[in-house]
Amino acid sequence: MATTVSPSGLLTISFFHFLLSNPALSSPLIDQLNHPPPPNFLSTITNNCLHDSSLRYCNSTSSDLTNIFKSTIVAAHLCNLSNSPNCPTSFSFIDLRTRPKLAPLYLSFSFFWKYCPFSIQSIDLSNNSLAGPFPSQILNCTQIHSLDLSHNMLSGFLPIDSFTLLTNLSSLNLSYNQFSQEFDAGAISFFKRFNDSSFIHSGLLKSDRDYKFKMMTTILLLVGVSALIASAIGCLVRRIGGRHKFSVRELTKATDGFSKERLVEKREKMEVYIGILKDGEEVEIEIQRGKVSSEFRRSFVKDCRVLVKVRHKNIVKVLGWCDGREMRAVVMEREEGVSIEEWLMRSPPWKDRMKVAMKVIEAMSFLEEEWPQIRCDVKTTNVMVSEGEEPLILKLKVHDHPNSSSREIYKFGVFLLQLIANKHLREEFEGSESRFVDWIAMHQHEKLRNIIDENMKLSATAHEQARQAIEIGLICTDLSTEKMLTVNQISSMLRVVYMPSMIQSVDGHHHRTRNKKKETT
Ligand SMILES: *[C@@H]1O[C@H](CO)[C@@H](O)[C@H](O)[C@H]1NC(C)=O
Ligand SMILES: *[C@@H]1O[C@H](CO)[C@@H](O)[C@H](O)[C@H]1NC(C)=O
Ligand SMILES: *[C@@H]1O[C@H](CO)[C@@H](O)[C@H](O)[C@H]1NC(C)=O
Ligand SMILES: *[C@@H]1O[C@H](CO)[C@@H](O)[C@H](O)[C@H]1NC(C)=O
Ligand SMILES: *[C@@H]1O[C@H](CO)[C@@H](O)[C@H](O)[C@H]1NC(C)=O
Ligand SMILES: *[C@@H]1O[C@H](CO)[C@@H](O)[C@H](O)[C@H]1NC(C)=O
Ligand SMILES: *[C@@H]1O[C@H](CO)[C@@H](O)[C@H](O)[C@H]1NC(C)=O
Repeated sequence: MATTVSPSGLLTISFFHFLLSNPALSSPLIDQLNHPPPPNFLSTITNNCLHDSSLRYCNSTSSDLTNIFKSTIVAAHLCNLSNSPNCPTSFSFIDLRTRPKLAPLYLSFSFFWKYCPFSIQSIDLSNNSLAGPFPSQILNCTQIHSLDLSHNMLSGFLPIDSFTLLTNLSSLNLSYNQFSQEFDAGAISFFKRFNDSSFIHSGLLKSDRDYKFKMMTTILLLVGVSALIASAIGCLVRRIGGRHKFSVRELTKATDGFSKERLVEKREKMEVYIGILKDGEEVEIEIQRGKVSSEFRRSFVKDCRVLVKVRHKNIVKVLGWCDGREMRAVVMEREEGVSIEEWLMRSPPWKDRMKVAMKVIEAMSFLEEEWPQIRCDVKTTNVMVSEGEEPLILKLKVHDHPNSSSREIYKFGVFLLQLIANKHLREEFEGSESRFVDWIAMHQHEKLRNIIDENMKLSATAHEQARQAIEIGLICTDLSTEKMLTVNQISSMLRVVYMPSMIQSVDGHHHRTRNKKKETT
């Protein structure tokens, strides 16, 4: 066998030809891996190293000969599998996109990664449902320029220190994974070169983490103005019976002195804590610090007095407030769950999506009738789903004058269309709701299949329901008509489309799929 130096750090073309032409080795990959190296293998690689000492295997001991041999076999197969040109001499990329069976197999060949050929510039392992911790062995290919691990189910932490060895990495995609890490890409100099689009829904961005705990509510710490005098006693007054008023002292105690451990969200003017009340109830406490005018405080209390009275199983329960001079707080019930945005990533079945839409519109209808001064801001990020698949609306606003609900209906329309299409407005429509709506309107007749979330396999009945629901969504978002529908009318229309008795029989097996997915999360 002739020996030539291959720039790839693999062995030689002739060696690869030997692999292919040797009848014993033309068997499947695993069989080939069980063969011992050919007798002249050591002299082949020794020779290669004499010509180019930078090859990855040159510093290894001879006892690793078998692994080096095996790594060349895997490299040859992987190169071919990736349709790289001129395999394996210029093996420049690993393409294992959407190969959920093959990707884990190739990842398991640790000997291959250890001797990762220097010629490889880019690695794509996206869309493979890879679960578990970050596959660190990839990082042995320190020379790569591009790495895509998006659309997997990787969890845990990023091996940040090993990452920083990839000095030439210019493209990274870790989006759509389930990492659980406080990660501030801007604070680690290596990661500064990447923007948020490398980490969308990865569990690494702060916004992902917020949803993980529970959706946070921004009720009304930024309310409008009326007039009058401040309550001089402020938060010092203890909560009395039905008065729902908390003292600063109570809240301090509930949050262990506003400790960092209990802080779950911090924005410019607002902090959210998970607190435990004296009676053991776990609550969410939203705090705004700083002095405000007395009118502001008065109006704040007035609104809180309204909100604590609202009781509906699909609307977040406001338990009370605190209106100190230096600090205002809203205390809310705390529910476990995920935002609709995150829920949709688990591909819930059609039946469950319709249930959520129905319950949300019914809650809106309840508000319109009982509390016309309260508006809710329905969005996939402002509604959560609890363990029992019950939706909960988290954002409410009190208006001075009950006005037209057209904006609310528009928002619900977008929400409904999102439940069906599961598109990411931020990434796909530059965050524009109207672009999203226009896109749906444009495709609703000829390309309905493009609109409906591809992860949802619909029966004929469900498909027809989805078609009608899209129409309703478009009616809600049609701003051209003068006469807007009422929340109640929308609710009745949806009820006609979604008849629970009919739906029950639809797509039962998808329900199972969903439950299975939940177990893995
Ligand atoms: C092999 O070892 C030498 C000296 O220890 C080092 O300079 C060289 O970079 C190493 N080569 C590789 C490919 O690791
Ligand atoms: C790659 O594999 C295909 C089919 O498995 C085979 O036909 C082809 O010859 C291989 N290419 C190389 C360069 O070995
Ligand atoms: C991801 O994989 C699924 C099947 O596992 C496939 O239907 C889908 O088209 C893939 N998506 C992309 C972007 O390749
Ligand atoms: C491979 O990576 C691991 C961890 O990332 C590291 O400990 C090891 O030294 C690397 N091996 C080689 C041969 O580069
Ligand atoms: C990055 O690229 C430069 C220039 O091509 C090269 O000299 C260097 O070795 C590369 N770094 C790594 C870690 O491979
Ligand atoms: C983020 O980075 C990607 C690729 O690195 C680039 O295409 C995109 O335009 C960047 N986005 C922003 C908002 O800078
Ligand atoms: C990462 O992948 C996601 C989903 O495919 C895509 O939306 C995003 O733009 C990609 N980011 C980069 C930096 O390529």
